[in-house]
Amino acid sequence: MRALITGGAGFAGSHLAEHLLEQGQEVVALAAVTEPLDNLGPILPQVQVERLDLRDALRVSEIVREAKPQRVYHLAALSSPAESLENPLLTYEVNFTGTLNLLLACRMLGADCRILIVSSSEVYGVVRPEHLPLREDMALRPATPYAGSKAAAELLGLQFFESYGMPVVRTRPFNHTGPRQSAAFVCSDFARQIAEIDLGLRPPKIHVGNLQVSRDFSDVRDIVRGYHLLLEKGDPGEVYQLGSGRPVSIEEILRILIGLASQCVQVVVEESRVRHSETPTLWGDTSKAEHAVGWKRHYRLDTTLRDLKEYWQERLRSEAASRRERSG
Ligand code: GDD
Repeated sequence: MRALITGGAGFAGSHLAEHLLEQGQEVVALAAVTEPLDNLGPILPQVQVERLDLRDALRVSEIVREAKPQRVYHLAALSSPAESLENPLLTYEVNFTGTLNLLLACRMLGADCRILIVSSSEVYGVVRPEHLPLREDMALRPATPYAGSKAAAELLGLQFFESYGMPVVRTRPFNHTGPRQSAAFVCSDFARQIAEIDLGLRPPKIHVGNLQVSRDFSDVRDIVRGYHLLLEKGDPGEVYQLGSGRPVSIEEILRILIGLASQCVQVVVEESRVRHSETPTLWGDTSKAEHAVGWKRHYRLDTTLRDLKEYWQERLRSEAASRRERSG
């Protein structure tokens, strides 16, 4: 079985590549032209890496034709809802046109190639408390270019299923975190700051945004197992949520991470980190995926956050060592 992963050298993509190799699959990882491959680490020799820009339709179709995958996992995206507000056009070009290019290229593979489109819980927009937990049949009211582009990409997947019978499964993951996540996102940002404090790289002060919001956090390693199960066993045309099934406040995330620090840490709320007009609480019902494909979570949140902090500690240590080496 040959699987192609867009965003294969990214945060979730690299965990998915690892999981698929463990299942005995061949992996073709698509990476952006200048993207570092560090996330693939020890599995790099086992993965075929192809570089491309998903906006380049010709190159996308060339790669798909050569790779002839039986499974396509579409993870690549500009993934920050906050940053998408600054860059709506690029967000739509990568997330929407990129998906269109991929689906058009996959048409030549016929019904033997199953495709997973990874959307996001962000597509529901600003949600009223009485509508929680979110379910797949709720209305989509995207509130950022990121969310709009994901909702549109999801519809593309559905249209290709309806028009051409292509086996496209769609998923809406809630927030997920773990080793290798960019520090643009809250858990990784806090874990990195704590690791910097522990290594004496910054004073014992952690900068945070709005601690009162609650989100549905999972471990990335559970989420990528969900992607695999959904693509193998999910119903084409359907959409499935993946999440922890409970809300956790950002304050609680901070409390767990501060508990891992080796000294007392002062908390500083930074106005520029506080987002205005965001949903106070978001969490989802994941029973559809659980019943359909038998997905179950394995990781506890405190284990995920501990692994994330250890990841940053190791990464910062090795970055410091290479700086020392370079300076002689
Ligand atoms: N980044 C960040 N930094 N967020 C903070 C901070 C901070 O210092 N303090 C509080 N927050 C709050 C944000 O206001 C937001 O409510 C929550 O933490 C989560 O923010 P992010 O981790 O930046 O993620 P996101 O929810 O905007 O988007 C992520 O989850 C989506 C799934 O629901 C991304 O992974 C998206 O790609 C994904 O679709």
